[in-house]
Amino acid sequence: MSTPLALKARHVATSLVERVPSPGDRPLAEPPAGSGLAPVMGDPGLPIVGHTLGFLEHTLASTRRFHERFGTVFWANAFGTRLVLVVGPDGIETVLANRDRAFASKDGWEHFIGPFFERGVMLMDFEEHRHHRRIMQQAFKRERLVAYLDAMNPAIERGISDWRPGSGFELYTATKQLTLDIATEVFVGGELGDEADRLNGAFIDVVHGGQAIVRADVPGGKWHRGLESRRLLEEYFRSQLPGKRASNADDLFSVLCRAETEDGERFSDADVVNHMIFTLMAAHDTSTITLAMVGYYLARHPEWQDRVRVESQALGKTAIDYDDLDALPSMDLVFKETLRMNAPVGLVARIAIKDTEIDGRYVPEGTRLMLAIYPTQRMEPWWNDPDTFDPERFTEARHEDSSHKYAWAPFGGNVHKCIGMHFGSMEIKAILHQLLLRNSWRVPAGYEPVMDYGTGPFPADGLPIELRAL
Ligand code: HEM
Repeated sequence: MSTPLALKARHVATSLVERVPSPGDRPLAEPPAGSGLAPVMGDPGLPIVGHTLGFLEHTLASTRRFHERFGTVFWANAFGTRLVLVVGPDGIETVLANRDRAFASKDGWEHFIGPFFERGVMLMDFEEHRHHRRIMQQAFKRERLVAYLDAMNPAIERGISDWRPGSGFELYTATKQLTLDIATEVFVGGELGDEADRLNGAFIDVVHGGQAIVRADVPGGKWHRGLESRRLLEEYFRSQLPGKRASNADDLFSVLCRAETEDGERFSDADVVNHMIFTLMAAHDTSTITLAMVGYYLARHPEWQDRVRVESQALGKTAIDYDDLDALPSMDLVFKETLRMNAPVGLVARIAIKDTEIDGRYVPEGTRLMLAIYPTQRMEPWWNDPDTFDPERFTEARHEDSSHKYAWAPFGGNVHKCIGMHFGSMEIKAILHQLLLRNSWRVPAGYEPVMDYGTGPFPADGLPIELRAL
């Protein structure tokens, strides 16, 4: 009989397994004498690029190799800096729970996403973050979600009724456009008209800016275009503010203008603009990738596609209401398993703001950290058979995610936990429901999408499927 997951997880996390050092192994920093801590061990990799290519192209394989060599906390040079990776739910919990206030988000993330999303709520810490999050939370309450879903359903209908059945239908490409159109409707309000294309283009440039390889303001480069586009978005949102402040509409932009806590705290004009830009970004790639990958797994596993469709058909309505979400249990299992297999925010960034420790390893102030959410969700001992798509692992009977509070953490955890978790889940399920009633889809036997890595793994080949009308 295999060891229970909880036991295995505890064993690995608490023991600093004795390893035979190899010549390339180096400590990040010597722990203070008498601290009882071990150093974080690692290896710099190649000059200049370090291990960037390995982590980008073979994220899972590289992390598993490092984990085998160094344990749950290790360092490597990658993405233009020295990084400490934290694998496993114990270490992830230490950082996200942040009981000693030793870790910060802003300076952790800024290195990776640049100045494009400044003053977004994820890029704030401690009291300031709490203040903004409390106001923002008003825009994600149940009654608000109900109204967003009402606005979303017709946009979904319009979007997918344009999808033409056939082979080679690029699901990921189509999904990207669909989620952008929905965001325009639900976040900004549907009245963009001719502005829509220009703003969508600007938004995409801002997202790509953060992923630029040449990270400097060179005319013609992605970084430069990202900055220019950020200015364009700022101007647009600022120009619309007076109208939105006066309106009683249900789009996120109007709601953020009105949002107020019980203590009367509200957002300034600049806050609304910054939160709009950040939230659009936080919602877009994540929902797109999740939806496309749910589609892929349902194509790969037709028995699951049939099972989810039967539940949707049983609802007997073309579009779901908020309360219907509980009546789609199989869809929920597939959603959770897809997020486990393919976490769209694969690595979560932080920085140590004082000397501290993770899993018994000494982490000095200034250390840049990456919490390995995606690899942890795809590794033993935290998951059984982690590369197998098996949604039933989330059923009440098996409940594999209960091995540790942070074993399944695609939405992060604690104070920065995704504020759009219910929104994203609702959007993806609302789209899937309509799609399942209209279409079925397959992929050829043996097809696997070519994966690349942005904020997490995504299908770089557009995810061609065979789409059929029902
Ligand atoms: C499946 C879809 C999604 C996934 C997997 C996801 C994942 C995450 C993760 C891991 C974080 C935490 C980052 C950290 O701790 O540094 C986060 C934060 C955040 N997400 Fe999401 N997200 C999704 C959808 C959305 C949507 C739809 C929205 C908005 C409607 C959204 C808005 C945000 C915001 C504003 C934050 C920052 C929260 C804070 O710092 O307090 N996300 N998300």
